[in-house]
Amino acid sequence: MLNSIIDIVKKAGEIYRSAGSDLGITDKGSAVNLVTKYDKMIQDFLFSELEKAVPGCSFFGEEGDGNKVLTDGLCFIIDPIDGTTNFIKGYQHSAISVALAKDKKIIIGVVYDPDLDNLFYAQEGKGAYLNGKPIHVSDCSIEKSLVLFGTCPYEHELAHKTFELTEKIFYKAIEVRRGGSAALDICYVASGKADLYYEMILRPWDWAGAYLILKEAGGAASTFDASPLDANKIDSFVCGNKKVLAEFYALLQS
Ligand code: IPD
Ligand code: CA
Ligand code: CA
Repeated sequence: MLNSIIDIVKKAGEIYRSAGSDLGITDKGSAVNLVTKYDKMIQDFLFSELEKAVPGCSFFGEEGDGNKVLTDGLCFIIDPIDGTTNFIKGYQHSAISVALAKDKKIIIGVVYDPDLDNLFYAQEGKGAYLNGKPIHVSDCSIEKSLVLFGTCPYEHELAHKTFELTEKIFYKAIEVRRGGSAALDICYVASGKADLYYEMILRPWDWAGAYLILKEAGGAASTFDASPLDANKIDSFVCGNKKVLAEFYALLQS
């Protein structure tokens, strides 16, 4: 099943790369929450191809008014383009993210960066890979960390808290980065390209695919209050190795 999902996600990457100058941009109720015709095209493509590969499965995708609940049985959680603003600007840092859950537990995660042709994937109990090579989280503490964070771009009321926390962390870590794709942020932590990532609000399709990759790479993720993640909730998100996570929780209390 993993190989068929990978083939389909890579084909979806061809749709992403075929984008011309007319992206068909519209907003989703706010001037900073944008969507393109490619987000919709890729989601439709994934739904129809994955349905053929896994008959009887259900779907939970970012775009449209369809089902946004993780159900029992086999259920895909999909973000057709994570990093839509980057895609619109040609910043070349976005991902197609697919998770497959069985009875609400994620068993497969595939995150594809179509600009760099980087394919991150994992299957429960079988390790995590980037382009076929095993990946692992780092063992850095905050002071040796490259830290990634998200700005909750669609919840401006969280900006002050986000930047306050990031300033604190900036003085403790080596450096901070704001990449613009939560799925890639998590995969970068999974592969030791970075060491810690957090965002005050994340939606399940932003993290679901990358979460299994992170877990299989030896990392951990939770909400800010160290509770387990729930794909039927919109909540805060933090991930890293266990040591850096403990330091992050302590910093939140300080
Ligand atoms: C967004 C990106 C961004 C994160 C936002 C997400 P989208 O997803 O992952 O990095 O900061 O919270 O909503 O809207 O580009 O799919
Ligand atoms: Ca997203
Ligand atoms: Ca998206």
